[in-house]
Amino acid sequence: MARTPLMAGNWKMNMDHLEATHLVQKVAWTLDDAGFTYGDVDVAVFAPYTDLRSIQTLCESDELRIAYGAQDVSVHDEGAYTGEISTSMLSKLGCSYVIVGHSERRAYHGESNELIGQKAQKVLGAGMIPIVCCGEELEVRKEGRHVEYVVSQIDELFAGFQAADIAKLVIAYEPIWAIGTGEVATPEDAQEVCGAIRARIEETFGADAAAAVRIQYGGSVKAANVQEIMAQPDVDGALVGGASLKAEEFAKIVMFR
Ligand code: G3P
Repeated sequence: MARTPLMAGNWKMNMDHLEATHLVQKVAWTLDDAGFTYGDVDVAVFAPYTDLRSIQTLCESDELRIAYGAQDVSVHDEGAYTGEISTSMLSKLGCSYVIVGHSERRAYHGESNELIGQKAQKVLGAGMIPIVCCGEELEVRKEGRHVEYVVSQIDELFAGFQAADIAKLVIAYEPIWAIGTGEVATPEDAQEVCGAIRARIEETFGADAAAAVRIQYGGSVKAANVQEIMAQPDVDGALVGGASLKAEEFAKIVMFR
């Protein structure tokens, strides 16, 4: 099955709503000028919550074909959860995707695989696509336990999921030691783990789910290294941090072919 690559920019806590609209416009114009064909590759940006309404207005009025989403979501539907944002709020803002379980959420907010799996279910239930993050710390990599570690994250994240739901979602493999460090995994490193994730999905959920699920690599992806990473058979896209804040650089990543 041919999987449409998903090139995604995770802006993290950068860009206020004015900067956000400029950046989205600039990415769209750069892609248009370069003759980019939408549909061959999916493009999405993940902005702070405060930017989403402005991005929605811009995308609707200018008919921009860039999808967008949030960087996290509450596991609760509504009520006394100060500071949280629900899936229905995000879907009303036109979000197509939501990142869940980024390593920065795990590290600074103590999020567990169980909670992240529940968030992914909520996102699916609201008709959006979760990008579910996983990945090992440097210590685990040094001990050579990275494959078993990530595979066990996958088991915990998706316990109780249906194969049809797995087929819809996106998994992002982000080795923590490669995030924001300039230290990029080799294409072979990325393939080793992405291949193991797909194999585990096949064992647990069957061949159709494994053939359909998109698996991204994230961690110091740039225009200069994206092509060789995307050449790996089990890598279906990139989740890009720092390099997604520069329109030309991100557009080059999107047009990796
Ligand atoms: O979610 C993307 C991310 O964690 C990678 O960040 O800056 O290394 O591309 P960066």
